[in-house]
Amino acid sequence: MSFGKILTLSSGSPLPQIGLGTWLSKPKEVENAVEIAVRNGYRHLDLAMIYENQDEVGAALKKVIPSVVKREDLFMTSKCWNSAHQPAEVEKELDETLKQLGVDYLDLYLVHWPVAFPPGNGLYPPHATKEGEVALDLETSLVDTWKAMIALPKSKVRNVGVSNFTIEHLEGIISATGVVPIANQIEAHPLLPQDDLVAYCKEKNIHITAYSPLGNNLIGQKKLTDEAAIEEIAAKLGATPAQVLVAWGVYRGYSVIPKSVQEERIISNFKQVELTKEDYEKISSLGHGRHVRYNIPFRYTPKWDIGLFGEPEEAKAAYKVKIA
Ligand SMILES: NC(=O)c1ccc[n+]([C@@H]2O[C@H](COP(=O)([O-])OP(=O)(O)OC[C@H]3O[C@@H](n4cnc5c(N)ncnc54)[C@H](OP(=O)(O)O)[C@@H]3O)[C@@H](O)[C@H]2O)c1
Repeated sequence: MSFGKILTLSSGSPLPQIGLGTWLSKPKEVENAVEIAVRNGYRHLDLAMIYENQDEVGAALKKVIPSVVKREDLFMTSKCWNSAHQPAEVEKELDETLKQLGVDYLDLYLVHWPVAFPPGNGLYPPHATKEGEVALDLETSLVDTWKAMIALPKSKVRNVGVSNFTIEHLEGIISATGVVPIANQIEAHPLLPQDDLVAYCKEKNIHITAYSPLGNNLIGQKKLTDEAAIEEIAAKLGATPAQVLVAWGVYRGYSVIPKSVQEERIISNFKQVELTKEDYEKISSLGHGRHVRYNIPFRYTPKWDIGLFGEPEEAKAAYKVKIA
């Protein structure tokens, strides 16, 4: 069985390039998906407290560790949710994640978003007066949270990093602490290549993990797997459109975490195909003059009234990220 290509993080930890995403994987679906994935060679799992399915992932892990895989041969990433950004909460939530998963340590723990919510009132604390909005904690800064992340014991997390951070956010935490995140997990696909951020991370040796690589979206747009140019290249290579999109991310050197709960797709998404330079460029050209970011919290329900990425629609947001 092939386990796929292994990358090396700046800490020296090996990271399997293709991982399984688990966002929106429903209870009963995710247990099955994780078991199928591991049985078919996946060794990298992308998880998070906010996906509210880590108990199920834990149940799947019990079925495959140690009979199929040793714990140390799996790379598990999870993420600190916004309502646990306060320094006193960071390790408590990590402990809860470890309990849900039934493991002693994570390979990578990320700050999920550069946004803090107040603790102790659920994962989406409601805003006191504005209906349909989540409450924000405008006091806790990214630097406060990052200091707590880098103080976590190595026995519980081997590597720490961030997710959805821009260059400005990264600069802020690095200049305040001198500690460079091991990874930044960001939305990246042909319609959102994020070239400047990718170049900045490369220079700082911050590993990029690409999420929503298939162009998953909750905004009613055509999925990238249905784009004619992608279908055409897939047909030429005898591959699926999803394999072509995963290959586009692989070509750029980062790790890629497609999500599926369907057996056939879980298996085929993991099988790598190689793109020629010409195919890679043709796919990249889909994003010329077309910019689509699917994950903008300002338009989530409940709304987060905060601008993160400098997207035009975020101009109406009331607040900005508190970096330091
Ligand atoms: N850090 C963050 O803030 C963040 C944000 C978003 C996502 N993520 C992580 O990244 C992972 C991947 O991103 P994502 O879930 O947004 O999107 P994605 O992996 O780009 O797309 C998932 C969607 O594509 C479908 N799909 C899977 N394989 C397919 C195939 N071979 N052909 C056609 N459709 C296929 C899935 O449906 P089926 O399941 O029915 O196959 C699902 O609807 C997440 O699951 C999560 O772990 C992180």
